[in-house]
Amino acid sequence: MPITKELIKEYKKDKTVYFETGTYHGQGVQLALDTEFDTVYSVEISETLYNECVTKFRGNEKVILLQNTSEGYLEQAVVDIKHPLNTERCFIYLDAHPMGGEAAPPLINELNLIAYLKRNDHTIVVDDFRLIRDAQAWGTCFKGKDMKEEFNRLFLAINKDYEITYHGDAWDDEDLIVATLN
Ligand SMILES: C[S@@+](CC[C@H](N)C(=O)[O-])C[C@H]1O[C@@H](n2cnc3c(N)ncnc32)[C@H](O)[C@@H]1O
Repeated sequence: MPITKELIKEYKKDKTVYFETGTYHGQGVQLALDTEFDTVYSVEISETLYNECVTKFRGNEKVILLQNTSEGYLEQAVVDIKHPLNTERCFIYLDAHPMGGEAAPPLINELNLIAYLKRNDHTIVVDDFRLIRDAQAWGTCFKGKDMKEEFNRLFLAINKDYEITYHGDAWDDEDLIVATLN
């Protein structure tokens, strides 16, 4: 389930760069284009899905697709001082996770790496909180933890002024977490 257009519109404000982990079939990329970001980055672990989206968005110079793990790509971005994640306030959508099974998602590592970027004022959206909260599917690894408390700690380590809110989608009343500055 991709992020909703309404939520992107609410938090886009003057941001021009969208950065997504987990491209899948490109629905999030398309929503970012529809909501008029100037540059849309998306990183995908699967070569097959990456190739599918390269074909889908071929010729669109706004779209930058990357085939890598989200952690591998963020590690490179942290040391690239000219990367937009270091130079501009971006809209970051963290949506990378296994598409089946109970393997852990890269989410916690992603947030720990984001804390090393030069900018600490990005708007960060995390999808599928229901699976994390209820420790289901790829969220199984979070069993027994208070994940609201854990996300508060992770976000506030990036920026102590982050305002953290929970939003509903078609699945659950608090499926999306947003950390942003006013
Ligand atoms: C829920 S889908 C993404 C949906 C997409 N963001 C959208 O809005 O339509 C999750 C994607 O994350 C990818 N993925 C899983 N682990 C990953 C990782 N470590 N790094 C990057 N992508 C990953 C999966 O292959 C899958 O395509």
